[in-house]
Amino acid sequence: MCGIIGIVGNQPVADRLIESLKRLEYRGYDSAGIAGQVDGVLQRRRAPGKLRELESVLAHEPLIATTGIGHTRWATHGAPTLRNAHPHIVGKVAVVHNGIIENFAELKAELIAAGREFQSDTDTEVVAHLLDAELATGLAPLEAFKATLDRLRGAFALCVLIGGEDEVILAARNGPPLAVGYGDGEMFVGSDGLALGPFTNRVAYLHDGDYVILNHTGAKIFDQAGQVADRPIKIVPASAVLMEKGNYRHFMEKEIHDQPEGCQRTIAAYVDPITARAAVPGNIDWAALDRIQIVACGTSYIAGMVGRYLIEQLADLPVDVEIASEFRYRQPAIRASALVIAMSQSGETADTLAALRYCQEKGMKSAVVVNATESTMAREVDVVWPIHCGPEIGVASTKAFTAQVSVMIALAIAAAKARGRIDDAEEQRLVKVLLEAPRLIAEAIGLEDAIKDIAAEVARARDVLYLGRGPMSALALEGALKLKEISYIHAEGYAAGELKHGPIALVDEQTPIVILAPYDSWFEKSASNMSEVMARGGQVIFITDTEGARHAPAGAKVVITAPACDPLVSALVMSAPIQLLAYHVAVHKGADVDQPRNLAKSVTVE
Ligand code: F6R
Repeated sequence: MCGIIGIVGNQPVADRLIESLKRLEYRGYDSAGIAGQVDGVLQRRRAPGKLRELESVLAHEPLIATTGIGHTRWATHGAPTLRNAHPHIVGKVAVVHNGIIENFAELKAELIAAGREFQSDTDTEVVAHLLDAELATGLAPLEAFKATLDRLRGAFALCVLIGGEDEVILAARNGPPLAVGYGDGEMFVGSDGLALGPFTNRVAYLHDGDYVILNHTGAKIFDQAGQVADRPIKIVPASAVLMEKGNYRHFMEKEIHDQPEGCQRTIAAYVDPITARAAVPGNIDWAALDRIQIVACGTSYIAGMVGRYLIEQLADLPVDVEIASEFRYRQPAIRASALVIAMSQSGETADTLAALRYCQEKGMKSAVVVNATESTMAREVDVVWPIHCGPEIGVASTKAFTAQVSVMIALAIAAAKARGRIDDAEEQRLVKVLLEAPRLIAEAIGLEDAIKDIAAEVARARDVLYLGRGPMSALALEGALKLKEISYIHAEGYAAGELKHGPIALVDEQTPIVILAPYDSWFEKSASNMSEVMARGGQVIFITDTEGARHAPAGAKVVITAPACDPLVSALVMSAPIQLLAYHVAVHKGADVDQPRNLAKSVTVE
């Protein structure tokens, strides 16, 4: 959720800390701060709000230090104010933290009883006090750090400066990711490879329980037991750290437009275009499987729902999809013979990770559909199914969603073939349909001007309803989620069949109703829902395809006509219009599209 960075440099680091924090800002943007040592004395600059506020503070009050740490915050404990902004400095310790210290209340009580005074409302400050107290007993920094870590419970990544130890950074990982970067006479540590991208492509990923001491010459990594650990240095490909908006106003806009290419790259990794056969990596015995359990959160959960429709329909294989935060706590009855598939762009979402581990403990084989291939989930599963859409920076997921759906379609084809539900010819037909999808997505993105035209009106609405059937019922949820998260307009997505069971009461002349209805086996029923809504004064935005536009009942306020496609890929093709609608409504409202309020890209706390 928060982003952290540390640099042991050989020249002033403030600018580079800021550069890195810009790359981490997607993880949280409630406040930001940096700390360094000047003549052996810890100093910090902090500011509530976006990183630009910190930049203005630094413009007036520069911090000239060659070793430093930085933080961009998504508030968990304590309001997003200056006093709660990281780094927290206590005595000889400056600390930045991502995650939650679960036992902070008891530690704080103990520290207060020992006479220590707190300056913030954060859980983080206990770490600074504990470490300062350990140092005061005469322990060396590394030993004091280990003693402190042993007292902490929860999920955390930490980065620490010790006053007087000019060229040393201590860092630790217990849950949220942390990567060590190897430079030329300089060392780096940060929340992800993206943060280190401008400085080095040589990166080692810490394991859970690891802690590390960095200086100019390198890093010494220890595992939880305190043994020296060897974590391999990997070369991060340039494409994994590219973070350019190009000519687009926002990352989200760029990422919507990236989708044909992102899906194409993803699909190419899951089918053989020469033979037109599914070629899903990993050793899954689809024929022997009796069930799939998908666990995920948010948009990834919705991608899982689309997957369920396709896998059950094509492969006759039962699929359960559940929101990870519910699944992990309700003691679900699961069998070891099932396959668990975690779906996660980041591979770090705390609830999804916990649900995945729960299934693994029950003996299930595990897989993850993931963008961050160095993430915790990717490291812990039996089979990694990467999406190849490149880093997603906009907080609202777009291209990761369609890439996840692309993988689910390929899995459905592979499972159907392996289970004898389709023959060779049908497999080849379906693979060709999938290979055509990127072109159709590009055509759907071409509807942008028509969508922009209705955005102004939708932007005035207080509530918006999204309806669909079949896979479009999942997309209805996604359309509503996208709209509310970036434009702050209340929106609900419903399976259209549920309309008469409650939501129709919301229909009035002021409520736009987005109906997603390609010309498929559900079309007539969706068209009937459209008529019911219009009969009650509802203003319908009908998103359909060429055939659907011909058969649509008259009276829609707007008909958006996407290219016709096989139902196999309609969730891919219909995604672009709903993403573009949310995007242009948000732009019209002047909202901060890439960094919507209260949200963070990577939710590493539950
Ligand atoms: C919404 C969105 C979130 C994420 C969710 C899970 O646009 O991006 O709902 O989908 O937080 O994140 P991952 O996929 O990283 O597990």
